[in-house]
Amino acid sequence: MSAFRELKILALVVVLVGILYWGVEPLAHSIFYPKTAPADFTFSDLEKLPTDGNVEKGKELAGLYCIACHSIEKDGFPAMLSNADAAMAYGVVPPDLSNIGILYESNFLANLIKDPVKALKLSHKFDDNKPFPMTPTYVSDAEIGDIVAYFKSIANPNLTDKEVFTEACVRCHSMKYDKVVALTPDDTIEAYLGAKAPDLSMMIRSRGADKLNKFINDPQKILEGASMPRVGLTQESQDKIINYMEKIGDSKKGEREFVGKILIGFMIIMAILAYLWKRKIWHDLH
Ligand code: HEC
Ligand code: HEC
Repeated sequence: MSAFRELKILALVVVLVGILYWGVEPLAHSIFYPKTAPADFTFSDLEKLPTDGNVEKGKELAGLYCIACHSIEKDGFPAMLSNADAAMAYGVVPPDLSNIGILYESNFLANLIKDPVKALKLSHKFDDNKPFPMTPTYVSDAEIGDIVAYFKSIANPNLTDKEVFTEACVRCHSMKYDKVVALTPDDTIEAYLGAKAPDLSMMIRSRGADKLNKFINDPQKILEGASMPRVGLTQESQDKIINYMEKIGDSKKGEREFVGKILIGFMIIMAILAYLWKRKIWHDLH
């Protein structure tokens, strides 16, 4: 008879734990962290522009319209200014362009060339009174396609996680735990965008991969009025950056998950032993 009662109690406990685990916790989570749309790697708010064309013409156009401010190390165009001077001149060190054809989504890149402030979602920071340091490139849409084609043709498709992070983020952010220092001084970034760019060593722990993914892809969606430009990375580049941030900021993640599994196994074994032990005592009593 008592076995039946015990089963009922067990069933009740299972149901209660189930409700707590699958019901209350996710509910609380969704209240504290409201659901936001997933990252949009097609950048569907931007117009569709050509992303292919004549590589040779694109190279000429890049020589005319980009290297005044940017280096293209891979193709023999070094930086015109030292990092310190570039930070002074532009407010932030312009990135090297060697690999932008693989880092950035192609249509985002085309739109960036045509209208940087719009592509970067920075119209709340820059206008005619405070012009953005990267000027729009006044060429035809077809010529924009040529420029994008050229950058795609020279980009290295096998960048490491750290290289992607360095090329896309380090002109503003440091990663102290990996001894990486931002190319632009903190105060200069603050004067330029209105906020310092925080060190990213521990960001993966405090924000989590999901939120970071959405933030990098569209900061305004997560934090309205954010100072950080939208970084139009491909999903693959962004995965590499999150991987790198996990490697540096959460190096114990694998270990933690392993210990968690051992702990669960341990508890199951203890539960079985406790049950057997109890049966034995009851058995002796009868
Ligand atoms: C007058 C200077 C200037 C010219 C000309 C210029 N840029 Fe820029 N560019 C900048 C500066 C400064 C930044 C950094 C802006 C920032 O991070 O806020 C930048 C940023 C970029 C970025 C990074 C965007 C991102 O999402 O992080 C790319 C890619 C880029 N430029 C490509 C180009 C290409 C391609 C051309 C030529 C068609 C070009 N730029 C011409 C100054 C310039
Ligand atoms: C042009 C400069 C610039 C670039 C490039 C840039 N950031 Fe930022 N970032 C900022 C600034 C400024 C802030 C502070 C935002 C604010 O307070 O509004 C910020 C904030 C952040 C935050 C903190 C968000 C939070 O929840 O507090 C993260 C995470 C971040 N950036 C990641 C990145 C990553 C990853 C990259 C490269 C893919 C990157 N950023 C590229 C300037 C930049």
